[in-house]
Amino acid sequence: MPGIPDEVIEEIRSRSNIADVIGGFVQLRKAGNNAFKGLCPFHQEKTPSFFVDGARQSYHCFGCGKGGDVFRFFMDKDNLTFVDAVKMLANRAGVVIPENVSGDPAKSRKKADERERVYQIHAELASLFQKILRDNPQGPVARYLKGRGLPPEIIEKFKIGAAPAGWTTGVDYLRGLGFRDDEMVTAGVALRGQRDASRIFDLFHDRLAFTIENEIARPVGFSARSLEAKPADGRKYVNSPETPIFKKSRLLYALSQARQSIGKMNMAILCEGQMDAIAFHRAGFSCAVAPLGSAFTPEQAQILKRYTNHIILAFDADQAGQKAFLHAAEILLPLSMELKVMRIPGGKDPDELYQNGGAEAVASAVKSSRSWLEILVDVLKSRYDFTTPVGRGEAAGVVAGYLEKVPDQVELEVYVADSAKLLQVSESAIYSKLSARHAQNRRREEFRNPAPKPETAPARRRYNAAMLTLLEVAISSAAAARKIAELLPGDELPDNDPVAEAINFAIGAALNGEEDGGIARIRELLIENPVPEISRILVEHTVYQNAVKAAQDAVNDYRRTRREEKRKDLTAKLAVTRDPAEVTALLQEIQNLSRRSL
Ligand code: CTP
Ligand code: MN
Repeated sequence: MPGIPDEVIEEIRSRSNIADVIGGFVQLRKAGNNAFKGLCPFHQEKTPSFFVDGARQSYHCFGCGKGGDVFRFFMDKDNLTFVDAVKMLANRAGVVIPENVSGDPAKSRKKADERERVYQIHAELASLFQKILRDNPQGPVARYLKGRGLPPEIIEKFKIGAAPAGWTTGVDYLRGLGFRDDEMVTAGVALRGQRDASRIFDLFHDRLAFTIENEIARPVGFSARSLEAKPADGRKYVNSPETPIFKKSRLLYALSQARQSIGKMNMAILCEGQMDAIAFHRAGFSCAVAPLGSAFTPEQAQILKRYTNHIILAFDADQAGQKAFLHAAEILLPLSMELKVMRIPGGKDPDELYQNGGAEAVASAVKSSRSWLEILVDVLKSRYDFTTPVGRGEAAGVVAGYLEKVPDQVELEVYVADSAKLLQVSESAIYSKLSARHAQNRRREEFRNPAPKPETAPARRRYNAAMLTLLEVAISSAAAARKIAELLPGDELPDNDPVAEAINFAIGAALNGEEDGGIARIRELLIENPVPEISRILVEHTVYQNAVKAAQDAVNDYRRTRREEKRKDLTAKLAVTRDPAEVTALLQEIQNLSRRSL
């Protein structure tokens, strides 16, 4: 696409869950696993024929035939070009499109070409590693793989290969294809010599090479396992460094092979490493993925959420596994994703389980997965004394710490009921722990951002009142919102103020021709940051007889209170300053304020 690099586009796509995005404009109801339906926004209809497919990340209307991906939705809805749709969603998803993209097309084209060469280097090296493995059936890597029982079709499917024993085999091969040394270093497949920086060497050497692919199956990196139980250099795995195309926190091993199954099976299994992921695939659970040797990240969770809300953890039951479980719960609960944990009998890893017990053993372990809450309570039983009231109370407090991350009220109620049973306390005891935590969080927040001092509080309250009226008018009708937009430039509203933000949403919605006055998005805002005054305005939804006049009055009122506040502020400064120059400046400012009020 002209300008915006593919990977930025993919990043935006991956952060724009189509059901969430479209759900902001169309009332969607569940219609199967990760599928939704609603009234088509592109043609008039009374019964829903508009479907959104979460697994495919696409929409389709069986009535009018419109359909496509999340970008296409905005191209259809708002008549945008592709690039504008991408920019619009980038903004929504909080992705920054690199500067030079819109600024200097020639430069960004060059960047895109460079990145493309990094992709090509990985594609070529992956085929080289695969070829070396195929051509050396008696070689050390082939023998090692045979020893671990990996069949040829799996080796093929996962693009497993052999990094050659020489120090420059890969580098020489790539040079032969016309790649420059500096490109190979940038790509993270070659290292400069320590003594002679003009020479470069292969990073992956004499190892089993797992190819790491991105979501759309392009090789972007490698994880190379030593063939020795105790490698001489002490490194069991040599992994790709961070490069323009390899961002460890946003990649999942085996995702390209798993994504379809994750959607179809409506679950993803998250395991610890390549070998475990492959074992699951062999056992028929082709929905397994693994982080790349580091902790599970929120970005990875967002990626999985596009395919499913159901995650099964298959980590070791050891201390590290326990930590990883708590960490995963903290990441997944705020996303309303369901987390289960699989226990592997005998403390083995999934790979061993499959080797010893076959697909059946894996299937029964998956089936016996238990909810995160049960596992959490088990963990707590080992840390607190459940026979004493104090011990159980403390454990309930920890549970509440996880429950408070659950954004959905219905989910929360279910979890509270379950927690009460597991901890053998009443539901209201759990709720009181939750509200105690809320109060604590609020106090901590206030400590960090102290409320305004008492003497300035009245002015602030009046100022807010005018802004609240402005919001009331802004959501009352599109005409009123448009009038406000016309009279009040955006920069006259304060930054970082939820009321101001809500007003801007209402105006934005009206300017976009949306019907609901931006109320849906204001509600979203309130979930993150509850403001009772705003909620009250949404509920009351005042209607004004004369929208334009109401808008004019509200804007005038707002300006006047703002000026008053400013004047108070300046007068206060005037009272304490001893600097004659500052006195003059302050007086001048105060006069300007009065003049504008005429
Ligand atoms: N890992 C890593 N660097 C290491 C050790 C592990 O990057 N030094 C990552 C790898 O991605 C690995 C995962 O962590 O797949 C899990 O580690 P481990 O269980 O030790 O490796 P396995 O892949 O299970 O290897 P094996 O079964 O061959 O011991
Ligand atoms: Mn293992």
